[in-house]
Amino acid sequence: MNIFVLTGAGVSAESGLGTFRDKTGLWTRFDPMKLATPGAFALNPDEVHTFYNLRRRNLLEASPNPAHVALARLEAELGKRKSRLFLVTQNIDDLHERAGSQCVTHMHGELLKARCTACDAVGSYIDDLGVDDRCPHCGQPGSLRPHVVWFGEYPLHMATIDEALQNTDLFVSIGTSGSVYPAAGFVKQAKDQGIRTCEINLEPSDNAALFDEAYYGPASQAVADWVEKIIEVVTPAR
Ligand code: APR
Repeated sequence: MNIFVLTGAGVSAESGLGTFRDKTGLWTRFDPMKLATPGAFALNPDEVHTFYNLRRRNLLEASPNPAHVALARLEAELGKRKSRLFLVTQNIDDLHERAGSQCVTHMHGELLKARCTACDAVGSYIDDLGVDDRCPHCGQPGSLRPHVVWFGEYPLHMATIDEALQNTDLFVSIGTSGSVYPAAGFVKQAKDQGIRTCEINLEPSDNAALFDEAYYGPASQAVADWVEKIIEVVTPAR
């Protein structure tokens, strides 16, 4: 059984990393059009860097929670059974990897990486970024930006994601509001291909009607319970 899992900010909420659209979400406190668009970066790079530097420092102090750990375990268990977990995340944090996941596709980029707008080189970057920093690859000053996908930009790895969606037996969405495309469209794509769909979230998402089954509650518990169940399903009876 191949399983496609899409995660969003809700899977990292209990690690202390804010979501975007909940009552205290980032976009209820900050204007995304002033902080998360290429235009905003061109207009006011200092302000954009300050915002992402704060998030990067928070991330470096955060730890994976039981939901991340359970998904890493599922990856390993499916691997033992010649099955595959394809884990796509909208999150720019590295908590899946820190929990032990070996293969994580970051469709919205990674906060602990910087990209050069002059030579396109991408490299890991855990310190604060600023307008005076030089690209370690081409030496251009002021050309580094967070390696994240901003509003109006095309997500990463879409061809790989499409291929995985065509080769999956179960589509699962965890901790996402289902309000941002193209990720929010994956469930319909799966359903149109006759693939079973499952949602795990604190509350029904915008696409709740498209899911065949759903588990509502904090991810740290709901994902761990679901993984237990799935491992039982894929484990042949003795
Ligand atoms: N456990 C499970 N789900 C949770 C938890 C939790 N502890 N806390 C919150 N949630 C759910 C909320 O109910 C909500 O449906 O997680 C979802 C978070 O939704 P958003 O804040 O909209 O985040 P996300 O769906 O990941 O946003 C998508 O939008 O801002 C852009 O690029 C950014 O990747 C992001 C994209």
